[in-house]
Amino acid sequence: MQSAQLVNRFEYFDSVASTNLELKRHYLANPGSWPDFSAIAAAQQTAGRGRLGRSWVSEPGSSISVSLLLRPETEAQQTWLTLIAGLAVADVVSSLLPEQSVGVKWPNDVLVEGKKISGILAELIEPGVVVLGIGVNLARQQSFADSAALADFGLEPDFDSVLALLLAALRGRYNLSNLSFGLAQLRDELADHCLTLGQQVRAELPDGRELVGIATEIDSDGQLIIQADEAVALSAADVWHLRN
Ligand code: BTN
Repeated sequence: MQSAQLVNRFEYFDSVASTNLELKRHYLANPGSWPDFSAIAAAQQTAGRGRLGRSWVSEPGSSISVSLLLRPETEAQQTWLTLIAGLAVADVVSSLLPEQSVGVKWPNDVLVEGKKISGILAELIEPGVVVLGIGVNLARQQSFADSAALADFGLEPDFDSVLALLLAALRGRYNLSNLSFGLAQLRDELADHCLTLGQQVRAELPDGRELVGIATEIDSDGQLIIQADEAVALSAADVWHLRN
């Protein structure tokens, strides 16, 4: 697989419960054998995990599930991991679908024509060690009709080719995120590709509170600034774009 050339260790499985769980299990069994930017990929997950304890559907052959073992060197780099993953996916999807509207819904969903084509789940497994899981839909999934997939737009996507594009796009941004000028560059890129900015949004905060306002900015920590009665910086939330 060409994808194997783009990471420091690569393991592929036809089917696993969850690539995040599988990578975590292998890493904890033998941490030294998993260098920074190692990956596990699978064509099917039987118990894929989403954010906030939700599940993530990955039927056989219909999506890419990949998880990367990352050892970010700074707090800032760690904070930006999910955002750079969203940017990398959006970059790949927009290069494959140049006619479609593609962007990042903060913090880390990638939408094509308003529908979700990708989800990202970062999990801190021990201090300084993160498993960054990315799911990208290649073909329509029977049990998940309201999402988008590359095949919806006439492509016949090849697992390894799309994964290789994704790993290359992610690696460049991961390296950049280790540099302070790189983070500024990534913030500009996100401002250009974030569908949430300028929208009226409803945000559900982790403590259950709700906030409605205009999303005005993403700050240097990757937080979304919402102008409600006053400006509020969100580091984690579920966000809905409200139509006016
Ligand atoms: C979400 O949108 O809620 C996040 C979904 C994350 C799915 C990916 S697929 C690869 C990795 N393995 C998992 O079990 N989850 C992530």
